[in-house]
This record gives sequence, structure tokens and C-alpha cells, in this order.
Amino acid sequence: MNVPPPLAMVAELTHRCPLQCPYCSNPLGLAKAGQEQPEAFWRSLIAEAAVLGVLQIHFTGGEPCARRDLAELVAHASANGIYTNLITSGVLLDELKLRGLAGAGLAHVQISLQGATTQTADRIGNYRNGHETKLKVARLVPGLGMSLTINAVMHRQNLAELPAMIALAESLGADRLEIAHVQYHGWALRNRAALMPSRDALRAADAVVAEWREKLRGRMAIDYVIPDYYADTPKSCMGGWGQKSFVVAPDGRVLPCHAAETIPGLEFQRAGEAPLRDIWETGPAFLAFRGTGWMRAPCITCPQREEDFGGCRCQALAMTGDARATDPACHLAPGHGRLARLAEQEAASGQDALIYRR
Ligand code: SF4
Ligand code: FES
Repeated sequence: MNVPPPLAMVAELTHRCPLQCPYCSNPLGLAKAGQEQPEAFWRSLIAEAAVLGVLQIHFTGGEPCARRDLAELVAHASANGIYTNLITSGVLLDELKLRGLAGAGLAHVQISLQGATTQTADRIGNYRNGHETKLKVARLVPGLGMSLTINAVMHRQNLAELPAMIALAESLGADRLEIAHVQYHGWALRNRAALMPSRDALRAADAVVAEWREKLRGRMAIDYVIPDYYADTPKSCMGGWGQKSFVVAPDGRVLPCHAAETIPGLEFQRAGEAPLRDIWETGPAFLAFRGTGWMRAPCITCPQREEDFGGCRCQALAMTGDARATDPACHLAPGHGRLARLAEQEAASGQDALIYRR
């Protein structure tokens, strides 16, 4: 099979993070600081990624700003002709650090907000004064010549603040707002009953987004991702397994997606142990679900199979116990009806207590 080069590398520099969002997509077993790879490892990987054809690097974590060498890594990626994006909570940044990152060539900053009010946001992230710091940092980004995206992760406990979140993102000068309902992997799966919105609340949110998209047309782009549990068609997770991007975990393992290690039996390679090109093109974990050869009915004969690649393997595993099953977000999957029923039940559970990482 001719394997096109990846467009993007997701560099999880660390799993350390001062916040504790109850929907964090990091694995339940976090990499320890001692397992993190040194600057020399990432520099050599970035150079290899550039040769392989990677066009963008998303520096993320945990909280990537917890790494002291972040500006050096950004500068190295820029010098290699790669577009750089920082996905951050913002709480460890200030003007001096932001100026340093801009000077290193950082092109784009994505800052997550946990709510529109201090009370909600600081409770969800379990970090006092985090919201105020985020707002200060976000306001500085456009003036330093970098693009700003605000990430708003929505769920039952902050959905009422959606109109205020959109107005806030606009007032911060964001070029783009990504409104994403929680997807239930990692910590989010553990907190599902406390986070799941009802179908009615979701419909109301859809209408709010449609109204504001119209209002802000030409001023701020709004992307919108609905929860899989209420969807009829699955998303092509990661743009298809081994098709467009890959993740490098803090310990240096190269993964097809951030939750791939939940799938039993997959064998992951560490960058540096084999050439990155070999890992991407013929590594066993990437071959496992690349393309359509692994599919069964109903995916194998479905006209959508090269569009969504059967949805998310990790969600199929979490919900059916079988990573080869059709993602239950698909209306053709046998377990599809159960997903929406489960969502409705959990939305009505009245459970509000959140389980945090620490
Ligand atoms: Fe996608 Fe498979 Fe559903 Fe077809 S049957 S829409 S390929 S998940
Ligand atoms: Fe692993 Fe979707 S998170 S395939």
C-alpha cells in the first residue's frame, strides 16, 4: 500500500498539568515526569518529521508550558519549516513567555476555557484563579502576531453558559472558536454520568451555535462537534487511523491516536528505536487499522467506509469490547440504539460530583 506522509504530529511533551479537567483525554495511567523525553529526543524527532513531510506540529500535553524547553522546540520546528500550534490551558503563561514563544516562531495558540464564568471554569478545571489568568493570556495573543483559537469543551455542567462563551471568545479577539462537546474517552468516560447532556439540551445548543454563526459570519469562525452518543454517523477519528496524523506520547512512543494504548495487543515503537518513516509506514500499530482491510460488516461494504474509516477504534473497544467492531456512533452498528439510551439515562442521573485526576 502506498502510504501518504502524515500532515500533522501531535507532540505530547508531558502529562504534567496544573488543571484537572474531568474530561481530559490523557490516559488514566499518566506518564510520570521521569518518563519524559529530553530536548535532544524531541529535536531529533522534529527534524525526522520534517523530512517525512509533516507540515504542522501541535505541541500539547498535559500542559506543554510545563516544559522549560518549549520555546527551543518551537524554534527548532519553525527552522525546519513546520507550522507550529500550541495547545495550552494558558495558566503557566505570562507576557514575557508569550513574547519568547512568538519570537521563536510560534504561529498559533489554542487556549481552552472551561466555562464563561470564573465560578464554573475554576470548578471544572479544579484550579483557583485559572480562568482570570487564561483571559489575560488570551488577550495578549493577537497583539503578538499569533492566531488565536479558543477551545470550549461543553457538557451538562457548563452548557447553559454557551452563549456567554461565544461572546467571550469574540471579545478576546479569537480568529476561531472550537465548540466541542465532550467525547467520552479517558477521564471523560469515567465522568460520563456527570457530564452527559440531555438530547433536549443538545438541540438547544445546536440552535445557539447556528444563531451565533450567522451573527459572527466573517468575524470569527465557529467549529462545532456534537457528542458521538447522540450522533447518527461517526467521525473519522484522527482523519482515519494512520492516514493524516500521529501522536507521540511523553515517553516517546509513537501512537496512531491518543487512546491507542487502550487497545490490547497493539505493539508500539519508540521514536529513535526505528526511523520515523518506518514506524509510520509499516509499524505494526499503524498497520492494524489503516485503510479498510480490517473491517467487517456493515463497514466492509458501506459506501462511507473511505470517508469515516469506520469511526473510532477506541470508542468501539470501550463500548463493545471489540476494537474491530463498527463504532456504535454509526446508525448501522448493532449497539447504536443502546448508546443514545445510555446517554439519556446518564443525562437524567442527577449525578454532579466530578472525579479529578488528583
Ligand atoms: Fe462508517 Fe462503518 Fe457506519 Fe458505514 S457502517 S457509516 S463505514 S461506521
Ligand atoms: Fe483512538 Fe479514536 S481515539 S481511534
